[in-house]
Amino acid sequence: MASVRLDHLSKTYRGGIAALSDLTVTIPNGEFVCILGPSGSGKSTALKLMAGIEEASAGRIFFDNEDVTLTTPERRDVAMVFQSYGLYPQMTVAENIAFPLMLRKMPKAERATQVEEVCRLLGIGKLLRRYPRQLSGGERQRVALGRAIVRKPRVFLLDEPLSNLDANLRVSMRQELRRLHDILGATFIYVTHDQDDALAMGDRVLVLADGRLQQYDAATRVYRYPANRFVASFLGRLPMNFFQGHLETRGDAVTFSNDDLVIAVPDGKPPASGTATLGVRPDAIVVRAGQSGRDAPVGFVRWLEVVQPDLYATVEVGSHRIIAKVPEGEPVEVGNPAYLHFNPGKLHLFDPTTGARLNPAPEEAAPVPRRRREALA
Ligand SMILES: Nc1ncnc2c1ncn2[C@@H]1O[C@H](COP(=O)(O)OP(=O)(O)OP(=O)(O)O)[C@@H](O)[C@H]1O
Ligand SMILES: [Mg+2]
Repeated sequence: MASVRLDHLSKTYRGGIAALSDLTVTIPNGEFVCILGPSGSGKSTALKLMAGIEEASAGRIFFDNEDVTLTTPERRDVAMVFQSYGLYPQMTVAENIAFPLMLRKMPKAERATQVEEVCRLLGIGKLLRRYPRQLSGGERQRVALGRAIVRKPRVFLLDEPLSNLDANLRVSMRQELRRLHDILGATFIYVTHDQDDALAMGDRVLVLADGRLQQYDAATRVYRYPANRFVASFLGRLPMNFFQGHLETRGDAVTFSNDDLVIAVPDGKPPASGTATLGVRPDAIVVRAGQSGRDAPVGFVRWLEVVQPDLYATVEVGSHRIIAKVPEGEPVEVGNPAYLHFNPGKLHLFDPTTGARLNPAPEEAAPVPRRRREALA
């Protein structure tokens, strides 16, 4: 088990492709960190650099205080699990899992005990004599994990290991993985482009775009307090509503406004004046039928859609099309007038040029769960 520290880590592939640029983060020992980002953002590159499969172009990698930047993959003592499982087709499940122990020349009896133990943990004890082709996707996934676990590596590196699974199996494998992590107490670094994976499993989430770090924060905070406009729009089922406008301060009161909207900005201390982008998630705006809302923007309902379990309306207010949540039982109908209530505690202000967050996120210590049991020790 080890903490992982990346210090100004960069990777430029041949041809000048900058896949990862100047990444500096520390992943604490025993934590479950998800690397989240769109396709091509450098997630797999970051993982391969940690595994030692790719060589860094600049920067350093530390496991605890040991500099492993130039260490071979074998000596780094990490286990990597790929999307494609990478099982040996000519070996049984038991042989596949025992393989890393064989390479270490562990005696046969001891090997068998360890394989059994890991298979019990993963619930694949009945599959030991089967070959990979005789297994379902989820079962193959577990075998690949089993092969990683028997090695008791310092760090687990997982690259989209659930992407071949159907939606239901995915949900249960997420829980399984999280449970495994909690039992093993090892450092897990998990790459995914799926925000649900990241938010469900990660203690912390590291968001990448174009090879650059966007935010590294507790899973709950990347959604609640996105550090910039990219993170704000990448997370969330429905697109965040964005508005261009001006900030104005009178006394203590800060107001955001444009031709169609006037919205009071309550807390935090955004810059007193100037242009700004306001971001509000659809679930932070409530739509009501009618046009009686005092101080509330009024418009016409253009579209209704169900995003389980809720109903959302697209309301046209001046030149804006605003997506907002319809409370249960509210008689909102397409073509009819409606008014909108913005939740004042859930307003995000961004710099219109750089996209950086303007209103500060609360400083509260991020609750990072750490459960460790030495079941396999
Ligand atoms: N061996 C390589 N040679 C040249 N360019 C590469 C190589 N591997 C990756 N790249 C490029 O580096 C960038 C980052 O790739 P990477 O595989 O890290 O992305 P990713 O975030 O894992 O994407 P995905 O979600 O699609 O797996 C991409 O632009 C990709 O085309
Ligand atoms: Mg990848």
